[in-house]
Amino acid sequence: MAVTRTFSIIKPDATKRNLTGAVTKMLEDAGLRVVASKRIHMTRDQAEGFYAVHKDRPFFGELVDFMISGPVVVQVLEGEGAMQRNRDIMGATNPKDAAPGTIRAELAESIEANTVHGSDSDENAAIEIAYFFKPEELVG
Ligand code: CMP
Repeated sequence: MAVTRTFSIIKPDATKRNLTGAVTKMLEDAGLRVVASKRIHMTRDQAEGFYAVHKDRPFFGELVDFMISGPVVVQVLEGEGAMQRNRDIMGATNPKDAAPGTIRAELAESIEANTVHGSDSDENAAIEIAYFFKPEELVG
């Protein structure tokens, strides 16, 4: 399988609980390599732009409020079939539905405070990576 890249966010519920390392270890143990990483506090404009695809959903306002409630860690992950590999280790969006051993089953608090975001396609991964990183920030 080809080595590809995907985009990940460690969300405010995880940074607040000092779980950046625990989440990253689970990603690395799943065969993903962190090739770019930065801790940022998103602005409202940044979060609204990032989640624009959800702007008509009833949870959009709360989602944006949550994502700017504290720092996040944006990361680029590399590995064989990175997008699917990351989604597999993240688990289902709602931690109640997530398989045992996944990040959300082990660490998430709720469907909103669900610890991690991961791109849902290779196309969106490229868009999301470019939203937060310049090409020269991906250092392998
Ligand atoms: P994420 O992968 O970051 O993409 C959109 C986010 O919306 C999702 O994870 C959830 O954390 C959040 N969200 C909040 N409420 C809901 C909901 N009812 N259905 C789906 N996603 C939700």
